[in-house]
Amino acid sequence: MQIFYSINSLQDFLKSQRKMGRSIGLVPTMGALHKGHLSLIDASKIQNDLTVCSIFVNPTQFNNQQDLAVYPRTLEADCQMLESVNCDVVFSPNAQDIYPTLPNLKFDFGDLERVMEGKFRLGHFNGVGIVVSKLFNIIQPDNAYFGQKDLQQCAIINRLVKDLSYNLKLNVCPTQRETDGLAMSSRNRNLTPEQRKIAPAIYKSLQKAVELLKNKNSSESVKLLIVNQLDNIEGIKVEYFEISDFETLQPINELSEGKTALCIAAFMGTTRLIDNVII
Ligand code: PAJ
Repeated sequence: MQIFYSINSLQDFLKSQRKMGRSIGLVPTMGALHKGHLSLIDASKIQNDLTVCSIFVNPTQFNNQQDLAVYPRTLEADCQMLESVNCDVVFSPNAQDIYPTLPNLKFDFGDLERVMEGKFRLGHFNGVGIVVSKLFNIIQPDNAYFGQKDLQQCAIINRLVKDLSYNLKLNVCPTQRETDGLAMSSRNRNLTPEQRKIAPAIYKSLQKAVELLKNKNSSESVKLLIVNQLDNIEGIKVEYFEISDFETLQPINELSEGKTALCIAAFMGTTRLIDNVII
């Protein structure tokens, strides 16, 4: 496995690979890797000759400076994990290389970002859009891999690829979970043992909501019930729970099989967790 810390050295290497006709898969991450990330590497390994994992804690997508400050940074352990799944290339640039100047350019993803994460984390998707387009331009992958765990991010990147005519295929991979159902997340390591014990309630509430919707309960009643139940658990505070069309991400009133996404964000202390399921 090769590790590159600068854009130039990575691009020199990729140029030589492309000359040999090798296809490139990109897995963008912010590090603090877990098995969810590794599942994206596995998917890329199957479809590409060369898999590049980028590790960059992107400051422009954090609207909360405290969240940025405590975001786990574990490059050495990350590289060991990537080596264990035979990832070919790690790209770990410093902020100065990615942002020699802070861009004035702003992305507006319209209705897609007026809801959920975009609504509660103002400017978040602008930062994601900027860094992901930079990575696409620097690496020029044939395939890029993202997790359904960040469903809205997938919708935003899908739009970015279309709007800017990126010549690559976007691949969305299923959410990996711990055995008790909790969605794997880098932020899980910020939970106290007590919080970790109750955190699976978030996924359980999504499963309960699916059952209620399938039994013809209205979106509004399901939302009220789920939010109330979760908020009654000490240590959990729901930020939003939405029942939406899985592509447009706009709220819907009735279940539409195969097209409905249930998305949730909740705080456990200062740690913010998100999860979703698609019916
Ligand atoms: P990060 O949170 O590190 O996630 C990197 C990728 O791993 C994302 O596509 C995310 O959806 C996926 N992922 C996270 N948890 C997962 C899980 N439990 N199962 C499957 N996939 C999972 O998302 C980002 O970084 C950043 O916004 C980034 C796209 C790198 C831009 O900075």
